[in-house]
Amino acid sequence: MTENSQGRDPGGDESPSVVPEESKATILVVDDEIELCRALSKLLRRNGYHVLTASNGEDGLMTLRQEEVHLVLSDLQMPRMGGLELLKTAKVISPATEFVIITGHGTIEMAVGAMKNGAYDFIEKPFSTTTALNVVGKALEKQQLLAENHELRKKLEEIQGPDNIIGNSLAMQQALDTTRQVATSTATVLLTGESGTGKEVFASALHRWSDRSRKSLITVSCAALPETLLEAELFGYEAGAFTGAVGQRKGRFEAADGGTLFLDEVGEMSMTTQVKLLRVLQEGVIERLGGNATLNVDVRIIAATNADLPSLVRDGKFREDLYYRLNVINLELPPLRDRGADVMLLANFFLNKFNERNKKQIAGFSSQAADAMGRYSWPGNVRELENAVERAVVLGKDEIIDTGVLPRNVVDGRQRFDVLSMPVGTTLKEAEMALIEATLESTNGDKETAARILGIASRTIYRKIQ
Ligand SMILES: Nc1ncnc2c1ncn2[C@@H]1O[C@H](COP(=O)(O)OP(=O)(O)OP(=O)(O)O)[C@@H](O)[C@H]1O
Ligand SMILES: [Mg+2]
Repeated sequence: MTENSQGRDPGGDESPSVVPEESKATILVVDDEIELCRALSKLLRRNGYHVLTASNGEDGLMTLRQEEVHLVLSDLQMPRMGGLELLKTAKVISPATEFVIITGHGTIEMAVGAMKNGAYDFIEKPFSTTTALNVVGKALEKQQLLAENHELRKKLEEIQGPDNIIGNSLAMQQALDTTRQVATSTATVLLTGESGTGKEVFASALHRWSDRSRKSLITVSCAALPETLLEAELFGYEAGAFTGAVGQRKGRFEAADGGTLFLDEVGEMSMTTQVKLLRVLQEGVIERLGGNATLNVDVRIIAATNADLPSLVRDGKFREDLYYRLNVINLELPPLRDRGADVMLLANFFLNKFNERNKKQIAGFSSQAADAMGRYSWPGNVRELENAVERAVVLGKDEIIDTGVLPRNVVDGRQRFDVLSMPVGTTLKEAEMALIEATLESTNGDKETAARILGIASRTIYRKIQ
């Protein structure tokens, strides 16, 4: 009864492996019928698996404690500890190990019970070698997927830190290093990169990791406001500075005193406002609109843009001197398609986030889904990936996200091209609104990208939506 119990089968005298060394999975066969145990081991070994055997449940458990086992093939009915009991304990000791139950005649009901307790499948005796190998292959595939997702999640916890900036790619690690290095200085930082690459995330990290973190981080989007309103917002105003300026109002520079001012979409700033901003940067003082007192402000400036500032400078739309003032330190955030290593890390991070938010427990991504996500070019970058995962979590009914719940363009590997058609008789205004709406839909509501596609300033799009 003890032959080879809980030990490695001497093996080695059988036909050579057909599976390459690195994909060799370890299978533990637990059966009190020595003959069956031996035959099954031989079959599995001939197919390239690494096989351990045990002739009873207790010995099987001992092996699970000592070795990394990917799959257990266990008989259901054994003296003392039966297969079901072994399964229940094994799921605690070694949660990433898969289970397949071998059942005799008339014990199907018990086998189903085992599946309810987490077994992947069962094989009924007597079984053909094809059946056995098929079930084993499938169970191992599932096991590998779970193990991979488990690994990714562990890695995520290691690198995530308290700041929720995910990125294991070299480019991201460098961006994070620079961010840590420059956070404590007062040097102006210019964040560049396509829409959705994380400029705002890094702006916030620069503030939190600085010694200004107890004061405010104030964000002003230069695209959202027309020139005069933007200036009033930035510098504040005195009563009567312009029609409608009834009382005095402090600007965002004053609100950010001692802290950080984040000028988002700085490429959209008008030339006049640029002059005023330059003066603040050079002299460290501001004047409220309509006032003549100069106020000292101690503000660290971070600016961001997805426009190509050097070419705006060449076209005379952005002041060169301001560009150099802002670009003291440049943090360029690469598009997601250039940091393939981060796609699944980010996807798992968002999976956790939306699982929690939607009270779901989706375990991970199928290998087909992961492949499609790895191949896709993500023109909307991290934001697009985040939206895709959220959608999959909300729609998903299975324990794993498969291609069915991913956006079609991700699975097809194509960028989306939607067609708009409208009847003659549509007014230009209606046509314009329809086009803006359709474009916004295709960019998942991202106004910056939509404006770029439409060839208009993002300020214009904000205005038209209003
Ligand atoms: N490295 C990252 N780790 C975790 N989440 C990220 C990361 N980068 C971006 N995100 C998330 O992706 C979304 C888009 O990021 P963010 O708003 O910072 O992009 P952006 O570069 O400012 O885009 P835009 O130019 O359109 O303003 C946000 O929800 C953000 O939390
Ligand atoms: Mg942004």
